[in-house]
Amino acid sequence: MATVTSPASSQGSPDRRAQIGVRTLRTDKWWLMPLVMVIIFLSFIAYSTWRAFENAYYFAEPLISPFYSPCLMSTCEGGVLFGWTPIGNWTLFGMAISPALFILIVPLGFRFTCYYYRKAYYRAFWQSPPACAVAEPHKKYTGETRFPLIFQNAHRYFFYLGLLLNVILTYDAVLAFRNAEGAWGHMSIGTLVLLANATLLWLYSLSCHSCRHAMGGRLKHFSKHPVRYKSWTIVSKLNVNHGKFAMISLFGVALTDLYVRQVATGAITNFYFF
Ligand code: FES
Repeated sequence: MATVTSPASSQGSPDRRAQIGVRTLRTDKWWLMPLVMVIIFLSFIAYSTWRAFENAYYFAEPLISPFYSPCLMSTCEGGVLFGWTPIGNWTLFGMAISPALFILIVPLGFRFTCYYYRKAYYRAFWQSPPACAVAEPHKKYTGETRFPLIFQNAHRYFFYLGLLLNVILTYDAVLAFRNAEGAWGHMSIGTLVLLANATLLWLYSLSCHSCRHAMGGRLKHFSKHPVRYKSWTIVSKLNVNHGKFAMISLFGVALTDLYVRQVATGAITNFYFF
C-alpha cells in the first residue's frame, strides 16, 4: 500500500509536494507503450543495419529501395539521379562500402532528433520519465543544453536535408511509372509502394515542428504575411498528427525496402496493372 503524506501534513518541510513512497500510483499498463517502442525501435535498427550492410538486392528495374537512393557510387545499380553518374567507389579492407551507410545518415539523423521520437525513446530507453506521473530513476535533469544532447538542435538542418531526400524519392516513384524495359505509361504494385512511401515521408516532413516554425515562426503580425499564415495554418493541422505520421512512415520505409528486396531476389514478381 502506497504511503502518501499530504502537503498539509508536511508543513514545515522544504519540500511542499506530496511525498510518495512508491514510484507511481498509476494502476494502468503505463509500461506498455515504452515497451512497444523499445520493440519497434530495436527491430527497425536491426533491420536497417542488416540491409545497409547487405549492399545488394536494392534495385529491380524500375524500382529502387529508399535505403539506397540516390546512387552515390559507380557500382550502384539504377538510381542515377537526373542523368548524373557517380564516380568512384570507396572500399575498406578491399570490400566495397555500402552507399546506404552514407544515405541513411540523413533520414536517421532526422528521425533521431525529431521531437516526437525524442519523447518516445527518452521514455522507452532512458526512462526519463517512462510515462506521465511515473518517477524516473535519474536524480538530476540537465536538459538538452549540453553535450551530447545539445546536438538535438541540429534537427532543423536535418529537416532541410530530409526535404531534399523526399524530392529524390518522389522522383524515384515517378520513374516507377515505367516497365522493366524502360517504357513509360505503366503502373505496378511497386509503383504504388514507392508512391505511398514518398507520400508518407512528405506528410512526416511537412508536419514537423521545424517546418511549422519555418512557416510561421518569428512573425509579429500574421496579417502582414498572408501566404506564410496560410502555410502555417495547413502545417499546424498536419502537425497535430505528427506522431502518427512518424510511426507509419517508419514502417512505410522499411516495408518499401523489403518489397524492392523481394522483387530483386526473385522471391516475388512485381505485378503490373497495365
Ligand atoms: S519534429 Fe518530428 S520530424 Fe521534426
